[in-house]
Amino acid sequence: MAKMWAGRTDGAVDQVANDFNSSIRFDGRMYRQDIKGSVAHAAMLALKGIITADEADLITKGLEGILSDIESGKLALDMNAEDIHMFVEEELTARIGDAGKKLHTARSRNDQVALDVRMYLRDEVEDIISLIRSLIEAICLQAEANKGTILPGYTHLQRAQPITFGHHLMAYAMMLLRDISRLEDAKKRMNSSPIGCCALAGTTYDTDRDFEAAQLGFDSVILNSLDGVSDRDFCIELGAAFSTVMMHLSRFSEEIILWSSWEFAFVELDDAYTTGSSIMPQKKNSDMAELVRGKTGRVYGNLMATLTMLKGLPLAYNKDMQEDKEAIFDSVDTLKMCLKVFAPMVETMKVKKDNMYRAAQGGFINATDMADYLVRQGLPFRSAYKISGQVVAYCIEKGKVLDELTLDELKKFSELFDSDVFEAISLETCVSKRISKGGTSVESVEAQLSYVKEQLKSEKGIY
Ligand code: ARG
Repeated sequence: MAKMWAGRTDGAVDQVANDFNSSIRFDGRMYRQDIKGSVAHAAMLALKGIITADEADLITKGLEGILSDIESGKLALDMNAEDIHMFVEEELTARIGDAGKKLHTARSRNDQVALDVRMYLRDEVEDIISLIRSLIEAICLQAEANKGTILPGYTHLQRAQPITFGHHLMAYAMMLLRDISRLEDAKKRMNSSPIGCCALAGTTYDTDRDFEAAQLGFDSVILNSLDGVSDRDFCIELGAAFSTVMMHLSRFSEEIILWSSWEFAFVELDDAYTTGSSIMPQKKNSDMAELVRGKTGRVYGNLMATLTMLKGLPLAYNKDMQEDKEAIFDSVDTLKMCLKVFAPMVETMKVKKDNMYRAAQGGFINATDMADYLVRQGLPFRSAYKISGQVVAYCIEKGKVLDELTLDELKKFSELFDSDVFEAISLETCVSKRISKGGTSVESVEAQLSYVKEQLKSEKGIY
């Protein structure tokens, strides 16, 4: 295989070595960013008189032709090319001749690849943020419809205190809002241009990096050329933010899977987001949620792979860094797929309110409220807690729930019990009285809903 860089060597690389070395299989997806970057580079070279305006024009038209031919399917990427950068440059030179050979003046593939990846991820992060927004909107719809739906809240997966399903769902909306804010934050740091750092040391040409960066929508230029070509922090930051989103989706998935089981039967997923079994006719499996939970591992893995790849690298560019792309691209694809299936799955999920309520009636989840009642009657909390515990033990022995006891039975435990205790420990009271900021009451869920909606509308971005 003859190479563009033939000179020092004859450029003939063994076919297996060439396949091993080549990245076009996975960096081909950056062709748009690569071409856009090259158009801006040609404009800068012409502006600074490094090439002529005519040459820049030829280059730009050539590049635009390549772009439209790739998009229309007329031009296929050559899988023998070393990478997308070489492919575009070779194709350009084949099309326009000598002017094409001038495009690579005052740049290197090292700053070019750093540029392309940043531009590519910048676009993808936008998509991901809007997918997360759609998921938050789906969650808000369900939360609105279920702001008064009572179910048990759990700790240690043991029934703990009554809450509303709206409140439970809004917890995920809050997590996902933070996820958006993390992505916005990473995007800010990522939006600094490496182009013009060249191979590692800058260039002897009188270039204008600020002009080129502005053409490409960057906020600034990276101020150390070694840093510009060696930095992959943005892949780490994004990989970590993606992992956090996946972790949230995975926890949510786990709950959906549990809730869909006969044991809970709190929700039923729409048929469109479940599968059957090839042998057991009764099955309706939550495969989508399980897959999201399963895929979380690979997104974590991609982050670890990139951290490990970078940890021993001396400055500046090393070929190891080519490994950044498969990892982060896989995470982008995985996360997008998960989000696309998750939002409609949540939106169409049927909530079985009666089953939730029935579950809330068992498990003595109003025991804390009984203790609080005694506190209001003048007992210190610790003593009230103990009496309430004794009443629970009595109920377990008698096979009853707290609400079924008579006042006489209660009075055996404390004279402070009065007939208003039943109202105080009803599930509805337990929920409606939790009016503390961020609590489970309907008013609090409504406040959370307006907060989240305001954040989503905010021009300034989240937080
Ligand atoms: N395909 C390479 C990568 O993804 C592009 C940079 C190559 N630079 C070099 N000096 N070999 O990292």
